[in-house]
Amino acid sequence: MSGVNDIRSTFLNYFKANGHEVVASSPLVPRNDPTLMFTNAGMVQFKNVFTGVETRPYVRAATSQKCVRAGGKHNDLEQVGRTARHHTFFEMLGNFSFGDYFKKDAIAWAWELMTEVYGLPKDQLYVTVFEGDPSANISFDQEAYDRWAQFIDPKRILKGNKKDNFWEMGDTGPCGPCSEIHVDCRSDEERAKLPGHLLVNKDHPQVIEIWNNVFMEYERKASGELVALPKKHVDTGMGFERLVRVLQGKTSNYDTDVFQPLIQKIEELSGLRYSATDEHLHKSKQVINIGMRVIADHIRTIAFSIADGQLPGNTGAGYVIRRILRRAVRYGYQSLN
Ligand code: SER
Repeated sequence: MSGVNDIRSTFLNYFKANGHEVVASSPLVPRNDPTLMFTNAGMVQFKNVFTGVETRPYVRAATSQKCVRAGGKHNDLEQVGRTARHHTFFEMLGNFSFGDYFKKDAIAWAWELMTEVYGLPKDQLYVTVFEGDPSANISFDQEAYDRWAQFIDPKRILKGNKKDNFWEMGDTGPCGPCSEIHVDCRSDEERAKLPGHLLVNKDHPQVIEIWNNVFMEYERKASGELVALPKKHVDTGMGFERLVRVLQGKTSNYDTDVFQPLIQKIEELSGLRYSATDEHLHKSKQVINIGMRVIADHIRTIAFSIADGQLPGNTGAGYVIRRILRRAVRYGYQSLN
């Protein structure tokens, strides 16, 4: 399976077969949440379910959520164009448990989907677990470690700190320790030279995080205090564009079928050519690549945002969209003439 729509529906159907309700993406701009400018994760539409304020007629859900990360706590804007994997707009594939299953099933399903259904090679995967934070009275996530150890060589289970392995949606809200899956997409030769565990969470362009499994147990209050949630939940998020890249065997998200039609159109309009890799490219060609990636990324953010009712404006989310639009226009002039 390598088509983008197949890859997405395989995820949703897998969780549907495991008792999940497939729920539509919520709009990019949350209507009832003044703490967020944009939906920045699949869990945003379920925030009140996690905190116990709202109930739904189902306890398991799966979504493909439209997300923007261009302001606030999760902000990737300045990286976009310079890397093969950052976006302002992206789709997040997620499965959710509302007080139902927890670490055991979440980890078993994540592993089965990755290795059996999508067929990723086990010896190219690494997982991380939270090392704990004595200052917040949270211990090492032994349970997640033990669950992973049933499937994967313990040498491939790495401990991560608060920055990488404790997920929070913003300054306040539901949060908890998380376990990430990373894929080492380097060549066999490179992998033989340097073991991948040394490159996890080190910003290596080919050793990338692909899926985050958050075990929601706490709520961060405005005072900074962490309080236990009434129930324990699961919130996962997989970067769809990264998954497509791995399954299509590409070294950049921009080389996949998600972005190539846009890049081809930009080539046609500018009369310039995109090169599949930046490595060993002359600086003038790199500038063209960056410009094309910026425009291909930003035009999705702007188009989906406007379609969801958020026009460019002078304040708040509208101003972020205006800045993204201006950034794309600037790259169009400066890099693509
Ligand atoms: N909320 C987590 C994240 O965004 C998992 O979905 O990474």
